[in-house]
Amino acid sequence: MKLSRLWLNDFRTYTNLELPLVDGLTAIVGPNGSGKTNLIEAMGLLAMLKSFRGAPTESLIRKGADRAVVRAEGERDGRPVLIELELSQGRTRAQVNRQRLARSRDLLGALRVTVFAPDDLALVKDGPAVRREFLDDLVVSLQPSADLVCSDFDRVVRQRNALLKNVPMRNGRPALDDTTSATLDVWDQQFAALGEQVLELRYEVLADLVPLVGESYVQLAGRSAEVIANYRASWGNGSLAAALDHERLNDLRRKTSTVGPHRDEISVYLNGFASRTEASQGEQRTLALALRLAGHRLVSERIGEPPLLLLDDVFSELDETRSRALLDSLVSGQTIITTASELPPGTVPDQMLRHTGAELRLDSAASRPARSMFAQE
Ligand SMILES: Nc1ncnc2c1ncn2[C@@H]1O[C@H](COP(=O)(O)OP(=O)(O)O)[C@@H](O)[C@H]1O
Ligand SMILES: [Mg+2]
Repeated sequence: MKLSRLWLNDFRTYTNLELPLVDGLTAIVGPNGSGKTNLIEAMGLLAMLKSFRGAPTESLIRKGADRAVVRAEGERDGRPVLIELELSQGRTRAQVNRQRLARSRDLLGALRVTVFAPDDLALVKDGPAVRREFLDDLVVSLQPSADLVCSDFDRVVRQRNALLKNVPMRNGRPALDDTTSATLDVWDQQFAALGEQVLELRYEVLADLVPLVGESYVQLAGRSAEVIANYRASWGNGSLAAALDHERLNDLRRKTSTVGPHRDEISVYLNGFASRTEASQGEQRTLALALRLAGHRLVSERIGEPPLLLLDDVFSELDETRSRALLDSLVSGQTIITTASELPPGTVPDQMLRHTGAELRLDSAASRPARSMFAQE
C-alpha cells in the first residue's frame, strides 16, 4: 500500500495534522524535539499496531487528550484505501474504508513498513529479546495471520508463569496439588503446541533472511564478508513438550518458564566472530543496517512490493560512505527520511518538509516539483 495522505489527531505532539505524501522520497528536516520521530511512529503504528520504539499505547495519546486517531489514505492494487486506528485508554480500534474491524489485528497486512532508527545498533549489541522481536515482526509482515500464534503463545507463557508463581513451597519443595498439576498439564500442552509453531515460523524466515543479510553487509561495507546466524532453542534438541516435562520441577522452583521460544537466542557471526561480543562498533552498526535491509528485501520479494520505508534520523550515526551505500541499496519505493541535520549530499527529495515544532512547511526550492500546500494546527 502506498500512502497519499496522513491525518493525526491528538497523537503525541500533534493536535491536528493533515499531511499529503508523495510516492518517492519525502524528507522531513527539523530540530530535535520537533516531532519527526512521532510522525514515523504514527505510520509504523498503522502497519504494526505498536510503537516501533516500544512505547506503551497511553504515551502515544497527546497529553491532556483521552484518545488519539491515526488515519491514512492510500492506494492498493489501484484502489483507494482508508485505514484508521483509534487509541484510547486500554483499547485500540481499527477501521478499513470506514468499516470497523472485529479485531484491531485484522489491520495487519494492510500496510507494511520497514523502520531504520539509530537504536538499531541494539539489534546486534543487546540481549536476545530484540533479535527475537525483529524476527517475529518479519514473520508477521510476511504472514499477518502468524500474529495470532505469537500473541497466543505470549499469553500462555504469562498464564503458565502466573500459575508457577502461585504454587507454594513446603520444606524446600513445590507443593503441587492435583488440580493445579492438571491445570499445569493443560498449559504445558498449549505451550508446547504454540511454541513449536513459533519456532517453525522463525526458522523459516531466518533461513531465507540470512543469505540476504550477507549480501546486504557486503554492499554496505563495500568488501567481502561472511554472515552466519544460528537459532539456538533454549531447550536444545528434542521436543518442547519433553523439555517442559523435564524442566517442570526446576520451573516450579524458579517460578518461571525457563524453556521455550521466549528464551531463545539468535546468534549472528561476522567472519566467524560473535557479532555481539567480538565485532567492532563500526562492524556492529553495519551489521544492524544489513539486518534491517535484508528484512526489507525479503518482504519486498515475497510480497511483490517494497514496504513503506521509514528512515528515522539514521544519517547522524553513519559516515557519508555508509549513508550513501544505504540509500543506494534500498529498494525503490515510497520512502520517508527524517533528519535533524542535512541529507546526505546528492539526495534530492521529491518532497522536502521543514519542521519547526509548531509547523510543518513545504520547502519547494528543495523539493523536486512544486507540491500542494498542507496544514497543521
Ligand atoms: N503523549 C505526548 N503528548 C504530548 N507531547 C508528547 C507526547 N509524547 C511525546 N511528546 C513530545 O514529543 C517530543 C519529541 O518528539 P520526537 O518526534 O521524538 O522529536 P524529534 O523531532 O526529535 O524526533 C518531545 O518534546 C515530547 O515531549
Ligand atoms: Mg527523533
